[in-house]
Amino acid sequence: MTAEPVEQPTTKTRYDAETLASLTTDATAIMARYPDPRSGLLPMLHLVQSVDGYVSRDGILFCAEMLGITAAEVSAVATFYTQYKRHPNGTYTVGVCTNTLCAVMGGDAIFDELSEHLGVGHDETTPDGAITLERVECNAACDYAPVVMVNWEFFDNQTPESATALADKLILGEDVVPTRGAASVCSFKQMSRVLAGFPDGRADEGVGAGAPTLAGLQIARERGWTAPEASAAGDADGAAGQTSPPVGTPGSSAERKPATASDASVGKDKKPGEDAK
Ligand code: FES
Repeated sequence: MTAEPVEQPTTKTRYDAETLASLTTDATAIMARYPDPRSGLLPMLHLVQSVDGYVSRDGILFCAEMLGITAAEVSAVATFYTQYKRHPNGTYTVGVCTNTLCAVMGGDAIFDELSEHLGVGHDETTPDGAITLERVECNAACDYAPVVMVNWEFFDNQTPESATALADKLILGEDVVPTRGAASVCSFKQMSRVLAGFPDGRADEGVGAGAPTLAGLQIARERGWTAPEASAAGDADGAAGQTSPPVGTPGSSAERKPATASDASVGKDKKPGEDAK
């Protein structure tokens, strides 16, 4: 009697069996989120980055095989967005905002200093693989300009000196503490897995809206200003019946109480646990 042949998955990728099985499980979960599985391509590209550290040849083939599309179609998407890397990324992406406000507040000077200090240019990685330096676009943190992002965690109100000190710590493997939000910085691969839709539990850490962000709200309250209610028929933007969650509720980051010692931008005289008002 001969044994039944065991069906092996056919793949052109060079992933080992364990990695391929893990990727397949996660990609299947991603595809199940969408009415059309092909809509899962963007998070799937983050998923392969979480394994390879960039969108590799194997990552492209894997996505194409899972979705039943061509490698050329996957490549067309992967090369369109700057968050998808076509060469191995550093452990940390250090992104210097050089959009208008950050640039005039010193962002260009920070980038130039970091580039000189690290010996790399835009989208280049230090020889030790620690840092990929980037110019990045506005991070909606203009009230803390100039801003530097490390794997998309905020480092507000930077200077060339503070930014180079930050980079040196990253290279030495020392802990760094973001100014707002999460209390620590994870690796590029860990961050990519979160962007693929597998939370690490840190998304709601800390304060998103610090004192500069809330200044307008405070003035509005002092003067009794309120926003008009959205009508049931929809407002000018077509957001029918939608209202913002009240401040301080789970749906709103405004005025959330600081949770960690890193929530420094809430106000220098505030301590974690105190009202951020
Ligand atoms: S211009 Fe830098 S965060 Fe907006």
